[in-house]
Amino acid sequence: MSNAKQTMRVGIIGGGLMGREAASAFGRWFVLDNFPVQAELIAVCDLQEKLLDWFRQVPTVRLLTKDHHELLRSREVDVVYVAVPHNLHEKMYLDVLNAGKELLAEKPFGIDLQAARNIRNAAVKSGRFVRCSSEFPFLPGGQRVIQAAQSGQFGRILEIRCGFWHSSDLDPNKPVNWKRQTKTCGEIGVMGDLGMHVVHVPFRLGWKPLRVYAQLQKIYTQRPDGKGGIAPCDTWDNAMLHTEALINGEEVPMRLEMKRLAPGETNTWFIEVLGTDGGARFSTKEPKTLWLFERGQEQVWQRIDLGYQMIFPTITGGVFEPGFPDCFLQMWAAYGAERAGQLGNRFGCVTPDEAVLSHELFAAALESHAKKNIAVVGSG
Ligand SMILES: NC(=O)c1ccc[n+]([C@@H]2O[C@H](COP(=O)([O-])OP(=O)(O)OC[C@H]3O[C@@H](n4cnc5c(N)ncnc54)[C@H](O)[C@@H]3O)[C@@H](O)[C@H]2O)c1
Repeated sequence: MSNAKQTMRVGIIGGGLMGREAASAFGRWFVLDNFPVQAELIAVCDLQEKLLDWFRQVPTVRLLTKDHHELLRSREVDVVYVAVPHNLHEKMYLDVLNAGKELLAEKPFGIDLQAARNIRNAAVKSGRFVRCSSEFPFLPGGQRVIQAAQSGQFGRILEIRCGFWHSSDLDPNKPVNWKRQTKTCGEIGVMGDLGMHVVHVPFRLGWKPLRVYAQLQKIYTQRPDGKGGIAPCDTWDNAMLHTEALINGEEVPMRLEMKRLAPGETNTWFIEVLGTDGGARFSTKEPKTLWLFERGQEQVWQRIDLGYQMIFPTITGGVFEPGFPDCFLQMWAAYGAERAGQLGNRFGCVTPDEAVLSHELFAAALESHAKKNIAVVGSG
């Protein structure tokens, strides 16, 4: 870390959808109120000239390159955000660590369980600060569900349901991309794409699946290739993972859903926890709304209008609505704060161990689906 106000100097490898989203977070870092760490985007690597051109408008960027080794050689870069296809995660993440840099990795943290374990082990050996991306829990609704769960107000937990749903793949004419092919997305398919967002909160609350019965679906097996032809589309589209988590000595049903074909759901992340005394429900479908259940003389679901109550305060008015760029900025703030030893008891990014656990779950899900039985998580 450089001097001054603890400036975190960032390099991005992969300037596509998420690389540019990260640039936007650094570009409005100043909205964070009284935040101990400054962030500056210094260097970007992508293979596509037009994307490198896009980054020329970011005044702090001093290095644009098509060779990630060149970015990693830069002495000006402290932290690297890597947002590339899943088949490149392991090599790129290990290159980052070998260059002595710190890492915010994109999910799923390697293409499969072995890759995730290799990355986690290298991270531990390096002593570098490594976390993995998952931003939705940083929304006020997600945080309120977490606080309610931690308070014990739910009584004995009856069931948990978390999910992340997309719907654009319902269109059979949507062209294929690397996320729809096993060689680049991974055997785990939609679980690798959407799963980290689903498991982050349950894992952090200590709700770890013991075993899983998985229902996996491949719905469209080919798609237009975008060049006038047809290409195979061989990844799992939808995954329903029926699991049991051990909570206070009781096994509790926990259903985890990841879907690319969920009718009408553009980008819906949700969590619902039901207990004997209380419950909570939040979905990005209704981003201002928190539902809280209370069992009193009467049983009541209260609907609460949320504002802009973020973990890391900002200059944004308290009644305004947060969205995707806001939770993404909060996730980066959590990374910066934790790296600087200033997270305190606030919610942090996915740890390497949690990322490995997610892969243990997804590997067990593949086994369960193949054998049509219940698989033990973490046995492989
Ligand atoms: N956190 C989230 O909400 C979220 C959302 C979408 C994707 N992701 C994850 O982010 C990662 C990237 O996804 P995306 O949607 O941004 O993909 P994308 O295809 O939009 O971008 C990937 C970029 O990587 C570049 N690239 C490929 N090989 C490279 C190389 N050798 N060196 C440098 N750059 C290279 C490509 O040119 C492309 O611009 C994936 O791990 C994905 O799962 C996360």
